[in-house]
Amino acid sequence: MTIGLLKEPEGENRVALLPESVKTLIELQTKVLVEENAGESSFASNDDYESTNAQIVSRSKVLSSDIVIGINPPTETELTNLKSGQVLLCIFQPLSNRPMVEKLQQLAVTSFSLDNVPRTTRAQSMDVLSSMATVAGYKAVLLAASQAPRFFPMFMTAAGSIVPSKVLILGAGVAGLQAIATARRLGAVVEAFDVRAAAEEEVNSLGAKFIKVEGAKDDSSAGGYAVEQTEEYKAKQQALIQEHAIKANIVISTAQIPGRKAPLLIHSDTVSKMQPGSVIVDLAASTGGNCQLTENNQIIQKHGVTIIGNSNIPSTMPLDASKMFGKNVVNLLKLMITKEGQLNLNWEDDIVANTCVTHDGNIMSERIKKVLFQTETA
Ligand code: NAI
Repeated sequence: MTIGLLKEPEGENRVALLPESVKTLIELQTKVLVEENAGESSFASNDDYESTNAQIVSRSKVLSSDIVIGINPPTETELTNLKSGQVLLCIFQPLSNRPMVEKLQQLAVTSFSLDNVPRTTRAQSMDVLSSMATVAGYKAVLLAASQAPRFFPMFMTAAGSIVPSKVLILGAGVAGLQAIATARRLGAVVEAFDVRAAAEEEVNSLGAKFIKVEGAKDDSSAGGYAVEQTEEYKAKQQALIQEHAIKANIVISTAQIPGRKAPLLIHSDTVSKMQPGSVIVDLAASTGGNCQLTENNQIIQKHGVTIIGNSNIPSTMPLDASKMFGKNVVNLLKLMITKEGQLNLNWEDDIVANTCVTHDGNIMSERIKKVLFQTETA
């Protein structure tokens, strides 16, 4: 069986598999074809891939592999040329990309979207979203620190003492917790806020203070994700966030509910009341932003506050981001490859079944069917 590794489009520095991951796949008795220069922006040369026994080939050859792997999907024309039964593994956000889901269904391509890996204990080692959120949470703090006009830690110097920066983290999921840990390592005083009650213990264990809004909806059946809150709760939350944002020097926002527009947590009125020189890093920029003033992929200044809306932070740390991504992909592929290096899709396996979007002309994921087609079946 052949596995093809795509070079990512312009502007994306990561690669889905570094040579170390390719080596593991070759040890699993598969043949790996790598598009020329696929790893160049992640500091992996064609020679590095060849030394694992992979072959460097053209893009069209990669696209005719049994399994085609990338971070971003191939172009629309390339997709149309995929053959029935071919496997595509990348991130294509099926919950908000109905045309692509329908196209893959029509073509009878077996597609896996890596943002669909369930958030369960067994699937943790395959969860690319968690890996990328870890990178983003860490780097968000460094971006904030490099834009901030003040120190993060407390200093006692001959020129007087410097008080530590106050950092407010909104959303204490994977990215938020990593941001808390990084900000604490840099010596900041950190507060964090989340709608999930379970987040309190994790926030406290990292040495940050948890800000609580009473009256959140029960989220115990949402698979570790947040649920939409009532209007009354949102109003209380907004007032409390404003109270704390005004005192903070840095705000890092990471709040999301999968498949929905990012919840609006920092209104422009709040930004106008923040201290001049403060910095907001809005990780939810690509889904509308947690801050009303965020502009996707821009750094702007409003009311003396710098607002950073970079929506592909992992691409700025391509080496470790690609390393984590590749490990996740290999762990997922291990569920689908036999000892002889052949494809074996076990639909009884909940990770395979839930990550698969289309197969044999069908949409496999119940969740995707429900979100994309609910209006028609209602
Ligand atoms: P996650 O689902 O683990 O965490 C999100 C957290 O937000 C959860 O703890 C949830 O309870 C909380 N939340 C939801 N609604 C809220 C509300 N109204 N108020 C407060 N908290 C709320 O997600 P993860 O993996 O940490 O990702 C966080 C965000 O970062 C996502 O928007 C994701 O798309 C984004 N991201 C951005 C990257 C970038 O380069 N900018 C890279 C990776 C992720």
